[in-house]
Amino acid sequence: MKNKQAAIRKPKIKGKLPGPKCKALVDIDKKVVSTSYTRSYPFVIAKGEGVWATDVDGNEFLDCTAGIAVNSTGHNHPKVVEAIQKQLAKFIHMSGTDFYYEEQIRLAQKLSEIVPGPKAKRTFFTNSGAESIECAMKLVRYHTRREKLLAFMGGFHGRTFGAMSLSASKAIHRHGFSPLLPGIVHAPFPDPYRPWQNNAETVAKDTLSFIEDRIFRYHAGDEFAGVFIEPIQGEGGYVAPATGFIAGLSKLAKKYGILLVLDEVQSGFGRTGKMWGFEHENVTPDVVALAKGIASGMPLGAVVAPAKIMSWESGAHANTFGGNPLSCAAALATIDLLEHGLIENASKVGEHVKSRLETELADHPSVGEVRGRGLMLAFDIVKDKKTKAPDGALRNKIVDKAYHKGLLLLGAGPSAVRFCPGLVISKDESDVAIDIIVDIVRNMR
Ligand SMILES: Cc1ncc(COP(=O)(O)O)c(C=O)c1O
Repeated sequence: MKNKQAAIRKPKIKGKLPGPKCKALVDIDKKVVSTSYTRSYPFVIAKGEGVWATDVDGNEFLDCTAGIAVNSTGHNHPKVVEAIQKQLAKFIHMSGTDFYYEEQIRLAQKLSEIVPGPKAKRTFFTNSGAESIECAMKLVRYHTRREKLLAFMGGFHGRTFGAMSLSASKAIHRHGFSPLLPGIVHAPFPDPYRPWQNNAETVAKDTLSFIEDRIFRYHAGDEFAGVFIEPIQGEGGYVAPATGFIAGLSKLAKKYGILLVLDEVQSGFGRTGKMWGFEHENVTPDVVALAKGIASGMPLGAVVAPAKIMSWESGAHANTFGGNPLSCAAALATIDLLEHGLIENASKVGEHVKSRLETELADHPSVGEVRGRGLMLAFDIVKDKKTKAPDGALRNKIVDKAYHKGLLLLGAGPSAVRFCPGLVISKDESDVAIDIIVDIVRNMR
């Protein structure tokens, strides 16, 4: 027993944070890096391994952020590093839109296999989530020759003009950037915890009726090219729509000839304990937008659609860097690791974390709800449980305290703390994280 306990790694913090090297670098950063960045605490990484990240002063942190849900196989998984190194020795870039290379072809083949839907599919490769969304927006307009797009309040799809116009998560994302893209309509999101019509039980049905009876009264349903939805809203606060909503939306979209676009940028690649977040509901999307976890941290995104939808003319859409060979090699290694144990691990450890958080935090007066699936989990900090009024200031304090105890966490939405480590996290490592979280929450206020 003694030996087993000794083997469990814990965060190691030497002295006061931030240490001198972190502090010096952050001081320079403040002068030379864009002021629009949103850092919560002064963590400066020097190296990472699995779910552990060491800062430039040698402090060791347990990383439950995975670089905003990106390092799906943890930091520097040896198999991913090996795949990148092998590719690096061959060639770094050739531009997949103007030339051919096997890594991009093999990855497209693999994505066609693992994304549900008709067998014949095609992939467009991008460099980021926002670029995948831009591509999906263009694709649905091009394919349907319709103008309008439907999206949801609380949704986040990226920072480029199209993706920003589709997002409705925080006013700061849009403030000062008008005019935005026209033709986008936002429906309320069926959040079962804070339902817009104050009834969690009927919120899925009521939202569908709102779209069909109200929105389509002013904007004809058959003018919409696509409807964009995240299976779990990410930046909006890790909020899953009420059960059955996405399936209902899929039916409604079919009725009006609208393409269903699933934004799997944050929820995809095993994060929710299944390969795709939408697999928790019985739907087959028309278009899937991917990025973040796809290549364990190498920049890559993708849009996957049935071949009959992705049939635009040569030259209609392209880029220079999309489908970089190093990123494609990393993605193939990542998918292999996900299929051989990591998705299962995300599901198992995720259930354990959720049930511990529920048991140990749910009756705390400031914890409104523990929610999420797999390792896409969050707990919501409220001013009081009855009104469920978000307490963003207290949430930020929890995230900051965790940093000082050697645990990296991030906020999500107005008042949630998200828990999204690499999918390699062990049950023991997750217990170390939860012990820290529970200790902070129980001792606050
Ligand atoms: C669901 C979702 N879509 C799109 C994006 C945009 O991705 P990126 O930051 O890579 O442009 C994000 C980023 O957080 C996201 O969570």
